[in-house]
Amino acid sequence: MASAELTVADWTTLTDLCVAAFNEDWDGYWESIGPGVHVIAEQAGRGVVAHAAIVPRLLYPGEATLRTGYVEAVAVAPAMQRHGLGTKVMEIIDAMIDEAYELGALGTGSHGFYERLGWVTWRGPTWIREGDGRVERSPNEDGGIMVRRTPTTPADFDLTLPIAVDWRPGEVW
Ligand SMILES: CC(C)(COP(=O)(O)OP(=O)(O)OC[C@H]1O[C@@H](n2cnc3c(N)ncnc32)[C@H](O)[C@@H]1OP(=O)(O)O)[C@@H](O)C(=O)NCCC(=O)NCCS
Repeated sequence: MASAELTVADWTTLTDLCVAAFNEDWDGYWESIGPGVHVIAEQAGRGVVAHAAIVPRLLYPGEATLRTGYVEAVAVAPAMQRHGLGTKVMEIIDAMIDEAYELGALGTGSHGFYERLGWVTWRGPTWIREGDGRVERSPNEDGGIMVRRTPTTPADFDLTLPIAVDWRPGEVW
């Protein structure tokens, strides 16, 4: 579902899900990541139980510029975790990324969950591109970014290169 199709009630439901799953404040998060596509799992009697979104971004590994599907807000309702729902939602997300993007990327501390699904950890240093063209290191993100190769990822793609992303408000990576 495209972000633009979500109602105010949908946004509230998704925010409640993410607050419960991450146990974090969600103020400004949706505005920060911008519009994208949402995969939403509903279960009879329970409502929305899982979610993940893809937002289009550019990533800059080495000298390249790759059209990237950036994954956000992967969340399963606490009572429903470890029953395969997160995997189901990510399988749909992965298929969408494979079809439409040159790369998948996300920031996480739960590497094991994504590794099973074919994601790998970026090993090079991370950077942020400011609007004025300057680049700044983001050392706190090093090791926390995972990527997914797709059928259109360049063959010489190298996980040890520096990688940059465009600045955005909130969590940049
Ligand atoms: C992480 C999360 C999305 C996983 O979804 P889920 O439906 O609970 O996971 P699944 O049942 O599909 O997991 C399948 C396997 O992935 C692995 N896995 C699940 N959660 C994991 C985690 N947090 N870290 C590492 N591995 C994990 C396990 O091997 C699990 O198999 P097992 O239950 O037989 O041990 C979900 O637990 C969640 O919403 N957590 C809180 C929010 C969060 O951390 N989001 C993702 C971080 S960016």
